Amino acid sequence: MNVYEAINSRFSGRAFLDKPVDLEAVKRMLLAGGRAPSGTNTQPWKVHVLTGQALKAFCDTVVQHRRDKGAEEDPQYQYYPKKWREPYNSRRKDVGWALYSALGIERGQHEKMATQHERNFRFFDAPVGLIFTIDDDMELGSWLDYGMFMQSIMLAARGERLHTCPQAAWIYHQGIVRRALKLPDEQKVVCGMAIGYLDEDDPSSSFRTPRMELDEFCTFLDDQVPDE
Ligand SMILES: Cc1cc2nc3c(=O)[nH]c(=O)nc-3n(C[C@H](O)[C@H](O)[C@H](O)COP(=O)(O)O)c2cc1C
Repeated sequence: MNVYEAINSRFSGRAFLDKPVDLEAVKRMLLAGGRAPSGTNTQPWKVHVLTGQALKAFCDTVVQHRRDKGAEEDPQYQYYPKKWREPYNSRRKDVGWALYSALGIERGQHEKMATQHERNFRFFDAPVGLIFTIDDDMELGSWLDYGMFMQSIMLAARGERLHTCPQAAWIYHQGIVRRALKLPDEQKVVCGMAIGYLDEDDPSSSFRTPRMELDEFCTFLDDQVPDE
């Protein structure tokens, strides 16, 4: 698979087959991720790889905790803006409704929405779940590095004919995630990721998200000399 094929065929998969992923393939993907650049080669990433009984026990613990406690917890970092504004608010809402619509969930069907959201905490039934953490004294630049690391894993997954879903959902249950993984105090939960073979027959698997046109996010400075 060439690089553009890998990039363009990546999307967030939200339904995975009950088909194991070879641990050697997971290791190849993680090593490929580790080839990501990072400022002064700091490599700030730490990955907790969950498979088999460990994955099941972890998901059971978090799902049960959510059912018992209900409310989400404060994450250890602010992912989204505190106050939404345009154009981001519309994009956020559009993608949410489009996904629900693909799944046949209509406005007002809160129980179905909650059930769909809960699937996050089973890694959408993927056989591999990753939880990413970072030392809490690392700064914003290292989080930039982290995104590159995660994207490299997702592209390597395409090379293995696998699909992925990056999942910030886990950060809203960081307390139980930390306890279940016995994370040291100085590590923050950054994100999760589901990895597996896509269930092509699930309605969520045909869901695709739109992107901006080039002229909406690029300014080409060629012969124009910017004013002083
Ligand atoms: C860091 C990060 C966290 C995300 N968290 C979630 C999540 O918790 N659950 C989910 O279903 N999708 C999650 N997504 C997927 C986004 O909704 C998705 O990337 C976006 O809508 C674009 O769609 P695409 O990935 O299919 O191209 C996340 C994406 C990123 C990059």
